[in-house]
Amino acid sequence: MSSSYRVAVVGATGQVGTLMLQLLREREFPASEIVAFASERSVGRELDGGLIVQGLDESSIQGFDLALFSAGGSTSGEWAPRFAAAGAVVVDNSSRWRMNDDVPLVVSEVNPEALADHHGIVANPNCSTMQMVVALKPLHDAAGIERLVISTYQAVSGTGKQAVDELLDQSHAVLHEREISTPESYAHQIAFNALPHAGSFAAGDDHTDEERKLINETRKILADPSIRVSATCVRVPVVTGHSEAVNVQTREPLSPERARELLVAAPGVSVLDDPAVALYPLAIDAAGQDDVFVGRIRRDPGHERALDLWIVADNLRKGAALNAVQLAELLHERSLIHSHSTSSAA
Ligand SMILES: NC(=O)c1ccc[n+]([C@@H]2O[C@H](COP(=O)([O-])OP(=O)(O)OC[C@H]3O[C@@H](n4cnc5c(N)ncnc54)[C@H](OP(=O)(O)O)[C@@H]3O)[C@@H](O)[C@H]2O)c1
Repeated sequence: MSSSYRVAVVGATGQVGTLMLQLLREREFPASEIVAFASERSVGRELDGGLIVQGLDESSIQGFDLALFSAGGSTSGEWAPRFAAAGAVVVDNSSRWRMNDDVPLVVSEVNPEALADHHGIVANPNCSTMQMVVALKPLHDAAGIERLVISTYQAVSGTGKQAVDELLDQSHAVLHEREISTPESYAHQIAFNALPHAGSFAAGDDHTDEERKLINETRKILADPSIRVSATCVRVPVVTGHSEAVNVQTREPLSPERARELLVAAPGVSVLDDPAVALYPLAIDAAGQDDVFVGRIRRDPGHERALDLWIVADNLRKGAALNAVQLAELLHERSLIHSHSTSSAA
């Protein structure tokens, strides 16, 4: 078996794609060649490191061992099965395949064993779900989670590059007393505001798709459909770093002290929890870091089996690019590249 792979990065010019390229290099993923793909708009563009962007077509996608996708749901819907049919294992950042029964939805520290069931496509969870389950997994193992009540405070980079530019433009306009242009990334002005509308409302649904992802993906990753989840996803004028207030009701009693011990020992988690000296996780500190940061660990005075937590992580890094590269590493370490037969998903 080859231990040096031909790797495609699809969406290589985007925020997540750029970071995946950087992490593949920094973490010395055993790639014999990396090929960058993006839309027709970018074909021929030279990226940092000298890669020239290619376009997706039936001949350009042949011969890959691995394909890391971050180019949106419709591109993944069309091209991920084609890469898989041509022999690659796809790790997909979009929501397109996440809830498909044939597609494992994997967080490297939480359910790596699920990778063994792949049929050519592996899904990377939604950013808000990803950081939350890294922190919840040790608590779920110790005491069983019965119910979660979640409020998110999500950064604009979770929407894409255009939303970051819009936040900065609007902020500049407000500070210079100029009129802001009509919002494009969101329904309302995001600068100096908080929008209870992260994601979009499907026809007839009173929850956003982002809230539905938190509910459904959490249950799939923790392999427990009985967990009850209540979620409100809020977009805030932060560039990078999602924050979450999470109320965790367990089946068995769990003290804040024991939860803190479990979180200190958990892989991929850093505990920052000393409110007396104003120490707790902050989005601006989490940006650029690999870990999921947890603080404000305390008993919910309203319920004897509930705790409150504040969970923060870099949404582009652990929330997307880092986990995708960690999954590629696990697929390599577990000899799961070249091992699949394609199924209905792929
Ligand atoms: N941002 C996050 O926090 C986050 C977290 C988890 C998952 N994700 C997912 O990751 C994906 C990308 O997010 P992002 O923030 O990196 O977005 P982004 O900065 O807007 O980048 C989008 C990328 O997709 C490419 N693309 C668009 N249309 C394409 C097409 N028809 N064919 C091929 N490539 C195409 C773009 O290429 P051009 O430059 O040529 O347009 C660009 O490389 C999305 O599916 C998103 O849901 C993002």
